[in-house]
Amino acid sequence: MSDRELRVSEAQIAVHWQEENKFPPPSSFIAQANLTDPKIYDRFSLDKFPECFKEYADLLDWNRYWHTILDTSDAPVWKWFVGGLINASHNCVDRHLKEHRNKAAFIWIPEPEDEPHVALTYQELYVRVNEFAAVLRDHCGLQAGDRVTVHMPMVLELPITMLACARLGVIHSVVFGGFSGHACGERIADSGSKVLITMDSYYRNGKLLDHRVNGDEAIETAKEAGQEVEKMLVWRRNPGEYQSRSQMVEKRDFFVDDLLGDVRGARVAPVPMPAEAPLFLMYTSGTTGKPKGCQHSTGGYLAYVAGTSKYIQDIHPEDVYWCMADIGWITGHSYIVYGPLALGATGVLYEGVPTYPDAGRPWRIAEQLNVNIFHTAPTTVRMLRKAGPDEPAKYDFKFKHMTTVGEPIEPEVWRWYYHTVGKGQAVIVDTWWQTETGGFLCSTMPALHPMKPGSAGPAVPGIHPVIYDEEGNEVPAGGTAGNILIRNPWPGAFQTIWGDRERFVETYYARHNKNPSSKDWRDWPYLTGDAAVLAVDGYYRILGRVDDVINVAGHRLGTKELESACLLVDEVAEAAVVPLRDEIKGRVPDIYISLKPGKKASKRIQQEVVKSIEKTIGKIALPKNVWIVPDMPKTRSGKIMRRVLASVSNGIDVGDVTTLANPEVVEQIREMVQGDYREAAG
Ligand code: WTA
Repeated sequence: MSDRELRVSEAQIAVHWQEENKFPPPSSFIAQANLTDPKIYDRFSLDKFPECFKEYADLLDWNRYWHTILDTSDAPVWKWFVGGLINASHNCVDRHLKEHRNKAAFIWIPEPEDEPHVALTYQELYVRVNEFAAVLRDHCGLQAGDRVTVHMPMVLELPITMLACARLGVIHSVVFGGFSGHACGERIADSGSKVLITMDSYYRNGKLLDHRVNGDEAIETAKEAGQEVEKMLVWRRNPGEYQSRSQMVEKRDFFVDDLLGDVRGARVAPVPMPAEAPLFLMYTSGTTGKPKGCQHSTGGYLAYVAGTSKYIQDIHPEDVYWCMADIGWITGHSYIVYGPLALGATGVLYEGVPTYPDAGRPWRIAEQLNVNIFHTAPTTVRMLRKAGPDEPAKYDFKFKHMTTVGEPIEPEVWRWYYHTVGKGQAVIVDTWWQTETGGFLCSTMPALHPMKPGSAGPAVPGIHPVIYDEEGNEVPAGGTAGNILIRNPWPGAFQTIWGDRERFVETYYARHNKNPSSKDWRDWPYLTGDAAVLAVDGYYRILGRVDDVINVAGHRLGTKELESACLLVDEVAEAAVVPLRDEIKGRVPDIYISLKPGKKASKRIQQEVVKSIEKTIGKIALPKNVWIVPDMPKTRSGKIMRRVLASVSNGIDVGDVTTLANPEVVEQIREMVQGDYREAAG
C-alpha cells in the first residue's frame, strides 16, 4: 500500500477535533519548576545549533571531556561529543553516592498487594550493579562492545542488569517481557547476542506467569537463524525458589542467585566509553517484516535524556517519580532508567497491571508513596477512566506533573486525566517522540506554555520540525496535514539501524535529501513517519503513522510482521491487517485472510491464525477479528487495497471502488463484517 493510501485511511479514521481551549500551568507548579526562563528557546535556536547542546552534556560526569560537539563527516550517521569518554552506569549510580547514598533509587511494588514493597537505595543499587557486572565479566566473559539480550518483566533486576551491562560497555538489547520467545529469538539473532538474561516468573493480573519457558523457544529460534546462545542467566523472582516448569540445561543455564554467591563484595570499575559507543539496541517495528535494532549512543543519548528529564519531566531529587511504562520499551529506557537515574531521582517500579486487583490500585500506590510525578500512556488513562472513573477522588494523593506519551490522546480523555487524576492542580505534558529519537521531540515546557488537550505542543528546545506536503513543499502554520520531519540532528537520536546502515539512510533520511554525499546536516532532515498539523499558535497535533505501522495501546506493530504470522498457517493464501478503532487501546489489528484453493473456512483456521500471532509476536498483537474472505479487494495490478478493508472494519464509507479488479467482493466483505457487528449488537 502506498503512503498516500494509508494516510487517507488514517485521516478518515481520525476524529475531527476542533480547536481546544488552553489550560495555564498552575502557579504552584511554576513556583518550583526547574525551568521558568523562556530564553531557553533563544539558547537553543537553530543559529546556536549544535553548540546549544553543551548545556545537556554538562549535566553529566565525563571521564574525559569531548572536543567536537557534532561530527558530521559520516552523514547522516551523526557523532556527538566526539573525543569524550563517559560511563552511563557511573553517571546513574556512583556519582550519586556522595550525597544520596541512602536515598531510594527505586521503590519496587510487587503486583500481589500483600507482598511488601522493596526500597532500593543508591548504595544497594551500586552494590548489586557491581556484583552483577562481575558475573557478566567473569562468568560470561563479556566485554565492551558485546551484545546481550535481556527478556525480563518489571522487576528491580531489570535496571540492575542494564546498568551492569553499561558499566562494562556491553550493549544491552532489552526485549519487552510480553513478547513471545520467538520474537525474542529473532532479536537475539539480529543483534548477535551470545548471552540471554531472563527470569523464571512474574505476576500479571493476579497470575504467576512462567516466563522462563520463553527462553528455550528464544534460543531455539536464534539457533535456527544461525545464532548460538552460549549462556542463559535466569534471575529468580524469589531467590532459591524456582517457579517454572522448564528444565535448566546443564552448562548453559544458570540461576543468577547461585552465581552471585561467588562475587559477593566485587567492585567493577566503570569502563570509560567513547561518547559515540553504543549503549543499547531497542528493536522497533517498521514497514517490512523484520524489526529494526535502533542503536543508541552513550554520551549523546544520556545527555539528551538527562536534559529532557530535568526540564520537561521536571524531576528534582526530592520528587517521587512514577512512570508506569514498561522498561522493555523506549519510554522505560529513557524515562524510567537512564534520564531519572542520571538526575538522582527516586522512581517507582510496579510489576503488574494498573487495574489489578481494581482500578484504585495506582491511586493507592500514589497515596502511600507520595508520588508527585506521574507518567503513563493514553491507553492506560482510557482503561482507568473506564474501569474506575471516580476512583482517584477516593485517595489522598496530589500530582504536580503528569505525562502522556505514545499516541494521540482524545481531548475528552485528556480532560478526565486533568480534572480527575490531576485534580486540576497538575501540569500535563503530552510528549511526542519515538524509539528512534531517544527522547522528546514535541511537548509544552511545563512551566512556560499553556496546555492544549490533544496537541503535543511546540517543539522542545533544540528540535526544529518542518511539515512537508507530498511534493516536498513546506506547509506553513495553520495549513493542512503533512509529513513531519526534524530539520536538525540532536544528541538523543539513534545512530543507525544495527547492521543495516542502508536501511537506516533509506527509511529516515533519503526522502528529502538532494545530495547523498553532503556532509552538511542541513541537507539531511529526519523523516519521522508521522503525519501532523501545525496550528497558528505553533502547537503540533500528531495524527499518526503514515507507514504500515499500527499503534496498539501505544505499542508499535508492523502490519507486515502480523501478516507474515498469518501466512504461517498452512491454509492461508493471503493476509491483510488493518487498524480497527478501539475504545481502550486506540487501535487493534483486524485481520483479513483468504484461503488457498480447495480449503474450507473454519473456526479452527481462525484460531490457528490467532495462535500463530501469539506465538510469533506475543499477546499484545492479538487481533480483534479474523475474517475469512472469498478474495481480497485488489487493484488491477494485483495490490491488496488495505484502505478499503480498513474502511469496512471501521464502518466508514469505502468510497469509489469501481476501479478495483474485483469490486463485487467489497460488498460481500462488507455484508460479512458489518452484518456480524449488527448481530453482535443485537
Ligand atoms: C506515536 C514511543 C501522538 C507516533 C515513545 C510515533 C504519539 C510513535 C505520541 C512512536 C504523542 C508517540 N502523540 N502520537 N504524544 N507519542 N506517538 O517508537 O506515531 O513506541 O511515531 O515510541 O508513537 O512509537 P514508539
